[in-house]
Amino acid sequence: MKYYMAPLEEVTGYVFRNAYHRYFYPFDKYFAPFVAAKEQKGRLFNYKERNDILPENNRGLVLIPQILTNNSEAFIRTAKGMREFGYEEINLNLGCPSKTVVNGGRGSGFLQDREGLRKFLDEIFEQLDMKISIKTRLGRYDPEEIGPLMEIFNGYPLEELIIHPRVREDFYGGTPRLDAFSGAYEVRKAPLCYNGDIFTVEDLERIEREFPQITAVMIGRGVLRHPGLTGQLHGKHLPEKSVWEAFAGQLRDEYVRISINEEKALFKLKEIWSYLRWSFPESTIWDRQMKVAGDLETFLYGMRKLLDTYDPEKIPEKRGIPGLHNR
Ligand SMILES: Cc1cc2nc3c(=O)[nH]c(=O)nc-3n(C[C@H](O)[C@H](O)[C@H](O)COP(=O)(O)O)c2cc1C
Repeated sequence: MKYYMAPLEEVTGYVFRNAYHRYFYPFDKYFAPFVAAKEQKGRLFNYKERNDILPENNRGLVLIPQILTNNSEAFIRTAKGMREFGYEEINLNLGCPSKTVVNGGRGSGFLQDREGLRKFLDEIFEQLDMKISIKTRLGRYDPEEIGPLMEIFNGYPLEELIIHPRVREDFYGGTPRLDAFSGAYEVRKAPLCYNGDIFTVEDLERIEREFPQITAVMIGRGVLRHPGLTGQLHGKHLPEKSVWEAFAGQLRDEYVRISINEEKALFKLKEIWSYLRWSFPESTIWDRQMKVAGDLETFLYGMRKLLDTYDPEKIPEKRGIPGLHNR
């Protein structure tokens, strides 16, 4: 079984990815948050997108860049630009549920236009000499949509197919629709990767039991709130406090280094720690001090106090997961 880090826009960028890879159990592949392909010719990547995929910012790990578009020409141009950075595999985003993306017929909004999707895939597979994988939801409105979608996906030599078993209208709430995933599993041709709500060892065991032939699992929120999870899935103990301190220190230093001012660094750190804080379930320091901190110094003071509460015997419980229990 292979393990992949899920792409989370604004969260699993290169700073987080590198710090995670250095201090916790490494993933086999890291998927970069999407680059929205530009339809006009010209600059392919903005400053942030370019930095995120630059090889020198991703040394020693396998990164798969992801593209969001429904325009085959724009996809091909962007993929070629990525190949110039040395990437041989590209992922197509067919899952993003955000309103503007979906209304533009992209992400999970592209799933309802099956003829358009087939034409798009014909064109990109014909013109690109690269490995192409797809990350998809079950459909836009109805999980049954995955049936005809699988007929389409099975027509192409996909590097792999990653399915997040929700429809767009689910966003990240409710529970994954394993019945519909099972239908896709039965007819799959490409190597199949499961993604969604793996928060504990038991969650993984259930998926492995029900779908023994999947080749990979992709984990997002589960590892953000509990970065020791992947080690645990490999039978390791939870990380020591010193590991957490070094990890937290690298995140702090790197976000401060790349942010134009302290306010931006504070914003980024709050975003990341809104997930990481669940590894410190007994503490109220996040709510009382870190979340409400008005400046970086106060935030970091709270962070050090929070780290002091770390207990490597305590496995984070399944609570406080965005889209799972607190929405
Ligand atoms: C804040 C946020 C940003 C995300 N950004 C992306 C993205 O850029 N590309 C993508 O394919 N999926 C994106 N996703 C979806 C995740 O990759 C993943 O499919 C989803 O979180 C379910 O997996 P999990 O339950 O392991 O977190 C995002 C999810 C969240 C919550």
